[in-house]
Amino acid sequence: MPSSPAQTAQVAPGEKPHGESPGTPGAPAARTPPARQSFALADAWWPLGHRAEITTSPVPVLLGARSLAVYRDHAGIVCALADRCPHRRLPLSLGRVNEQGLLQCGYHGWAFDGRSGQCALIPNFRPGEKPSSRIAVAAFPVVETGPFALAWTGGTATAPPAPGWLDGGAPSRAAAERDGSPAGCPRTLAGTVEVRAPHRQVADALLVNPGAALGLGWLFGSGDEIAAPWVLDQKPDGAAVSVRRERLTFAVRRIATYDRALRGSRASTVTIASGGSLLLVESDTTPALHQARVALGLTPTGGYRTVVRWHLTVAGPGGVAALVAARVALTRSTRAARRLEQAADRSATVADPAVDLIHPEPTTTTTSA
Ligand code: FES
Repeated sequence: MPSSPAQTAQVAPGEKPHGESPGTPGAPAARTPPARQSFALADAWWPLGHRAEITTSPVPVLLGARSLAVYRDHAGIVCALADRCPHRRLPLSLGRVNEQGLLQCGYHGWAFDGRSGQCALIPNFRPGEKPSSRIAVAAFPVVETGPFALAWTGGTATAPPAPGWLDGGAPSRAAAERDGSPAGCPRTLAGTVEVRAPHRQVADALLVNPGAALGLGWLFGSGDEIAAPWVLDQKPDGAAVSVRRERLTFAVRRIATYDRALRGSRASTVTIASGGSLLLVESDTTPALHQARVALGLTPTGGYRTVVRWHLTVAGPGGVAALVAARVALTRSTRAARRLEQAADRSATVADPAVDLIHPEPTTTTTSA
């Protein structure tokens, strides 16, 4: 019998996979039925939401072409089940997490285990009577890493470890100390914006020019390119690419001293992985300027929309001013969405070596006569 997704998923050390919480040693074997409906996505880890937003109140999450019911059970584990009750098809996200930590349908009260998808309770059964093992919904492996909870969409394919570099947390200790703020207490900002553009174009725009796409030119630069991207690291088959670029940027710190906002160059590094669902943009560390890092999670919803979740951390000189400016740029969602949509439109016509690395052209073979 083929193993289920929940049985085969592997996660990086220190992350929280299904069924391996301290309170659930030896989680029951999953009985996830084969998915009848595909996500229409590449096999990858895809963001379900910010970790902090996922609670014991189930919410519907559209991931590709499928709707999932996402919630946190009483053991603190994030669960993702197909959002359709097998009884009368009511969305399970309209239900509740019951006293046993099961996701209970709001219609007739059938309740499902969040890690296996197995129906564990039917209210009108006699005491001792158990639901059939054939009553189940699809359950998907979930990990929490960095600021996001991610779901694996690869079915029975063995899941690779979820990227651990999103968990970079605060900028370097040295930067925080220069700023006078205690190390480990960085200034952070998080949010979500929905963009009317296909996922691939949004990912390309962020890889090519994150400062322009996010409206954060003073943090990562957004001007004309000074140097071609320098590839730092590349995993096989475009699984992860890390590129470094130099771009023109304003030295915002000088505005407070009524000095000219001089233009200079600043390097930033962009890492993209997991099918283009996760990005990390980091500004260079310099003694005179703040250091910034933004983790981005891209969730395709349908074919033409993308939910972009971001988590920005800033430390160092001028960090407060930079964060206030970032709040204005990123939290006015209409403007932020329009900026990303325009960048995504432009990305369709931009030739960039970094984009070519994550979307390698299919090799064509020629046969001689
Ligand atoms: S529709 Fe869910 S229990 Fe009946």
